[in-house]
Amino acid sequence: MTTKTTGTIKGFIFDLDGVIVFTDKLHYQAWKRMADRLGISFDETVNDRLRGVSREESLDIILENYHGLALGAEEKRRLAEEKNSYYRELLEELTPDAVEEKVKDTLVKLREQGFKLAIGSSSKNAGLILERTGIAGLFDAVSDGNNIQRSKPDPEVFLKAAAFLGLEPGDCAVIEDAEAGIRAAKAGGMFAVAVHSAAGCPLADESLKTFEELLNIG
Ligand code: BG6
Ligand code: MG
Repeated sequence: MTTKTTGTIKGFIFDLDGVIVFTDKLHYQAWKRMADRLGISFDETVNDRLRGVSREESLDIILENYHGLALGAEEKRRLAEEKNSYYRELLEELTPDAVEEKVKDTLVKLREQGFKLAIGSSSKNAGLILERTGIAGLFDAVSDGNNIQRSKPDPEVFLKAAAFLGLEPGDCAVIEDAEAGIRAAKAGGMFAVAVHSAAGCPLADESLKTFEELLNIG
């Protein structure tokens, strides 16, 4: 990889689901259970559109393939809650092993190098995930679905994360597996690093093949 920053990076803001921990797979399983119950066609391609977007917006995307009677706000609220309860059942199984050693090692090394680290996640379950995986202590700040009004691709979650770290947006690099997250990072004036399913996204400033390559950025 090449390094394109100007050397001003002082902090890293990490998306959580699909970047630090593979809870994106658990989101998929939970939505799939709900979609199957309603006879809605739902697959990995549709699931890719849900990355980084809020629970409510995700439901609207899934319901594009629902051909039953129109659903009101209360029914949609119940469906979102149904999915969340399936998802939280799955989260109960999470242990510290869910975070790969190379991810933990990289986070520790970045901290040792003096970088500030934050989570920037659209999820309202971020706190539970950090607690169950035992990695909360590796981050200086958490900005998540509980402190935002607008989810990615709006930059709000990342701008709040930078503010929580006491940094300017331009001093931060955002690490994302979602195109919506890369868009949010660029809209916020940050350096956008794409991993996994976002790798190769043309809007990203950098795409990584391995998580450890982060040590070459900044
Ligand atoms: C994001 C996920 O991190 O959080 C999305 O990529 C998810 O798929 C969103 O919809 C909201 O998560 P939650 O846990 O609040 O339903
Ligand atoms: Mg993600």
